Amino acid sequence: AHGRFFIGGNWKCNGTVESVQSLIKELNEGSVPDAVDIVVAPTFVHLDMVKRELKGPFQLGAQDCWVGKGGAFTGEVSAEMLHDFGIPWVILGHSERRSLCREDDELVGQKCEYALSQGLKVIGCIGETLEQRESGKMFDVLDSQLRAIVNHTSLSNWDNMVVAYEPVWAIGTGVVASPEQAQEAHAYVRKWIADNVSPEVAASLRLLYGGSVNESNCGTLANLEDVDGFLVGGASLKGSSFINICNAEN
Ligand code: G3H
Repeated sequence: AHGRFFIGGNWKCNGTVESVQSLIKELNEGSVPDAVDIVVAPTFVHLDMVKRELKGPFQLGAQDCWVGKGGAFTGEVSAEMLHDFGIPWVILGHSERRSLCREDDELVGQKCEYALSQGLKVIGCIGETLEQRESGKMFDVLDSQLRAIVNHTSLSNWDNMVVAYEPVWAIGTGVVASPEQAQEAHAYVRKWIADNVSPEVAASLRLLYGGSVNESNCGTLANLEDVDGFLVGGASLKGSSFINICNAEN
């Protein structure tokens, strides 16, 4: 692994006051290793409540933010607001935002740049669809997603960035990437970063795998050379499963 193991829990558009409270309780009662960075990302509505009630070692993240400074942008939340409010992390470029909200590579790159400039740490997401994989375009897709992020991200900020490889066909489907598929993509991303950013950044960059990670498959994936953590969706909504995934390296 490269750096501290990293587990992100993306709660997506889920939760009631009651369900979030019980999830916080389960997480607070769980036991997680010291050597792991853990970030949970509730909805904007629930962030304040989670921030008040969730204890360390859990850190907080938002699931998205606006591309630039706040102002007359109805419905948006800006990076500086998150930073001011004490939220250290933000997920950007999640495939659901790319596909459902039509965020393109360039917008995602701009979002990464602005969020980093405001002092946030970024979980930048990339990944191909099944159609792209089957038509042999997987590496081209990863290239252009990475290129847009790299074009906007100055070298000094790479310490504040992790990259999540999430093949779209594995997200929420129960079809997890095989260890070979995950390692192949992660090794490709790391080599791409070495060639296009620097070998030093590539060696320290944490690459997360996301897509149907659960407590049964996380152990095998955690042992892969270029998998340095996970971005977990569905299984992060269940406290006991998420805690087990946080212990995947053990
Ligand atoms: O951000 C998380 C990913 O989209 C994975 O979601 O674990 O429900 O497949 P999932």
